[in-house]
Amino acid sequence: MPAKAVEVAGAALVIRPVRRADLDAVIAIDATVTGLAKRKYWLSVYRRYGTGERRDQQFLVALTQGRVVGFVIGEVRDWEFGSPPCGWVFAIDVDPQQRLKGVGTQLLAAISAGFRRGGVRTLRTMLARDNTLMLSFFRSQGLMAGPLMSLETQLEDPA
Ligand SMILES: CC(C)(COP(=O)(O)OP(=O)(O)OC[C@H]1O[C@@H](n2cnc3c(N)ncnc32)[C@H](O)[C@@H]1OP(=O)(O)O)[C@@H](O)C(=O)NCCC(=O)NCCS
Repeated sequence: MPAKAVEVAGAALVIRPVRRADLDAVIAIDATVTGLAKRKYWLSVYRRYGTGERRDQQFLVALTQGRVVGFVIGEVRDWEFGSPPCGWVFAIDVDPQQRLKGVGTQLLAAISAGFRRGGVRTLRTMLARDNTLMLSFFRSQGLMAGPLMSLETQLEDPA
């Protein structure tokens, strides 16, 4: 995907595939949300989604004045849970200082455009029930409850 420039709150916003040099900023933004700098985890996410080798995997960053202010990660999954191929967004984060300026909206639009280019027509995500911020954001982008639900159980220790 070529870099795409849009204007958000009067400032130029560039959205492009992540580069290795962006990772420190990605880790720092994630740490503001989770409280943990998970360097090893992010390196493995970069190797899996960030190298641009697979068209169905996207790891995009948003920059203003050359500084990373947000990112989004997702992939196309085929026939998972019996469902036709759809685009999953499994991470989106905007620097707390840069929120409510439309950056999240532009990141979701960019990854959605990539999914459309890949031929899928459905966008999916998963979020914690009590994450009202994420719920407000995704609802504002037109996402609603879908046909799948999540189920889980705690596994016993092996005998
Ligand atoms: C959710 C998030 C990505 C939104 O990014 P953003 O750049 O602030 O979003 P936008 O400015 O594009 O907002 C779009 C819409 O989302 C909704 N929204 C965003 N932030 C909101 C808030 N704090 N309260 C209520 N609604 C909100 C609004 O409807 C907003 O539209 P409006 O500004 O016209 O009212 C950002 O708040 C974030 O990174 N939060 C933490 C995410 C997180 O927990 N990630 C870890 C799990 S993946």
